[in-house]
Amino acid sequence: MDHFRAYRIHETDGVTTAGIEELRLDDLAPGEVVIRSCYSSVNYKDALAATGKGKILRRFPLVGGVDVAGVVTDSEDSRFRKGDRVVVTGCGLGESQDGGFSEAVRVPADWVVPLPPNMSLYTAMAIGTAGFTAALAIDRLEQNGLQPDQGPVIVTGATGGVGSLAIDLLGGRGYEVVALTGKAAEETYLRELGASRVLLRDDLVMGARPLEQTQWAGAVDNVGGELLAWLTRTVRPWGSIASIGMAGGIELDTTVMPFILRGVSLLGITSANCPMPRRRRIWKRVAGDLGPRHLDAIVSGVVSLDELPAVFGQLLSGQHRGRTVVQLTEAG
Ligand SMILES: NC(=O)c1ccc[n+]([C@@H]2O[C@H](COP(=O)([O-])OP(=O)(O)OC[C@H]3O[C@@H](n4cnc5c(N)ncnc54)[C@H](OP(=O)(O)O)[C@@H]3O)[C@@H](O)[C@H]2O)c1
Repeated sequence: MDHFRAYRIHETDGVTTAGIEELRLDDLAPGEVVIRSCYSSVNYKDALAATGKGKILRRFPLVGGVDVAGVVTDSEDSRFRKGDRVVVTGCGLGESQDGGFSEAVRVPADWVVPLPPNMSLYTAMAIGTAGFTAALAIDRLEQNGLQPDQGPVIVTGATGGVGSLAIDLLGGRGYEVVALTGKAAEETYLRELGASRVLLRDDLVMGARPLEQTQWAGAVDNVGGELLAWLTRTVRPWGSIASIGMAGGIELDTTVMPFILRGVSLLGITSANCPMPRRRRIWKRVAGDLGPRHLDAIVSGVVSLDELPAVFGQLLSGQHRGRTVVQLTEAG
């Protein structure tokens, strides 16, 4: 791959610009493993990075994209060989290292995960960082004691990538799932994924007391802000909240009361720097007992590099649904 196409982001005088460029391997940050990228995917963080709406990138110029799945073409590390099918999510990809919106990717070998044998490259990116994060959250909630017989689990930002996958994965494990969304028109979609109830954000009566009536055995929160504060007030005794996202804000205005009187746990979820042993274990689970059942419904589109800006716009305006996969080269 002498030349290849990549979606590269620049910043000049505080202004972010981005577009497709022809690059050579020497233009990419160093690393031991070179991958011919077959698929990437679009995450909220990618939209923040490419538009400059969030301070995500640690250097410029940089190729965007926090996810990639592809085939190793060259490796200076004995753990990987030409032809290996691999996946990389987070770790700094698309943040400090040139990312997955590129037909070729070069990364440190320590970031590379062998693709689970029964998973296709396409499926790996339909899941991507969003699905990996949803699985990581469920894994942590269960390690903290959550079980299906304890009662309903609520998922906020339900129609988003993480939200859709969380509903699908929880439903597959037998949980009663309640979806909280801002999109009234998506009730049928959310029920199809496994939600037994759909709540509309605009209809919520959140109250303001430090402890409100308890409702949830557990929660997966992609929104933050006042919704996360409300979750702390309404989770049942000994229940847990997985805090994943900040689509609605970074603030958290609550009290210690849910924690010291109800034993509620607030679990932080960070997928980007998930340690490698846990990372491999979660990918195995996603290919096994914690696998998605409704990926066809969740993937709302497969796009080329040229179509990325439109997808970023949908994500940032909260109008995007499910997951968008990016096709880079033929998977065969
Ligand atoms: N901690 C981690 O490791 C990690 C990993 C991946 C993602 N994240 C974060 O998790 C969040 C979700 O990521 P994603 O990729 O699923 O993004 P996404 O596809 O854009 O989903 C976000 C969803 O949140 C809801 N939402 C959007 N704006 C909102 C607002 N102003 N107030 C309340 N709800 C709003 C919308 O769903 P509804 O209309 O259905 O409510 C939207 O679809 C993002 O903040 C992302 O940065 C964190």
